[in-house]
Amino acid sequence: MEVIILPTSDAVATLAADLVEAQVHAKPHAVLGVATGSSPVAVYDQLGRRLDTGLSFARTQIFTLDEYVGLNPEHPERYLNVIQRDLVAKIDVDPDAVHGPDGLAVDLRQACADYEGRITGAGGIDLQILGIGTDGHVAFNEPGSSLGSRTRVKTLTQQTRHDNARYFGGDVGAVPLHCLTQGMATIMDARSIVLIGSGATKATAVEQLVEGPISARWPATLLQLHPAVTVVIDAPAASRLQLTSYYQHTYDNKPNWQQPLARVDS
Ligand code: PGA
Repeated sequence: MEVIILPTSDAVATLAADLVEAQVHAKPHAVLGVATGSSPVAVYDQLGRRLDTGLSFARTQIFTLDEYVGLNPEHPERYLNVIQRDLVAKIDVDPDAVHGPDGLAVDLRQACADYEGRITGAGGIDLQILGIGTDGHVAFNEPGSSLGSRTRVKTLTQQTRHDNARYFGGDVGAVPLHCLTQGMATIMDARSIVLIGSGATKATAVEQLVEGPISARWPATLLQLHPAVTVVIDAPAASRLQLTSYYQHTYDNKPNWQQPLARVDS
């Protein structure tokens, strides 16, 4: 796990965008896993601006992490609509190459299995962008999630519903109770992962992610077992870490040959 601590959330977004751009340059047909939420919005803005300098997503495929159950197709907070607004509208990806789990399926379990099949059928995810919840969730793998889980239905914690109420006019009751989410094992299948986090509200979750024991209590801690995770955080999000000077020293002395990203493999 590489931990990069930067002074500002803008710097976090720039570096995360650099990593995505490097991935797409290395593999123009890359399969990208994308997160919704506030953390990656600035990353997506930057990627959109980089189309002017030759970056193209025309051959990429995009998979979202999760979806609320039961939001109608036009609902602005349905994650397929969120990713359309926050990312797809800003880049040149083929709209037919944008995928998410179907939170309106009659058979939700089948929809989860289908989503796993779509990811596998695309060749697996090359680079997964992740945020982290204040309760340590990644995607919607809430505390207590099986660390071997695959895409499935989950019940959101009240903390997550409270955190996300800002998108629902402040009404916690309007935030769905259930979601479909890639499982921890699904996320671990990604060839590389870039996790971003900003702000003091993420400090405890980041502390657990980077330096805590691996535990379903903090599902993100499973990422410690992944061979190619880059954690890009600002100083407030890093404020509870103990080994910050070593992470900084490592980053300052990073050799050019040490690249965590998936290369062209076909
Ligand atoms: P946020 O959410 O980016 O809006 O902080 C992250 C998450 O819940 O995973």
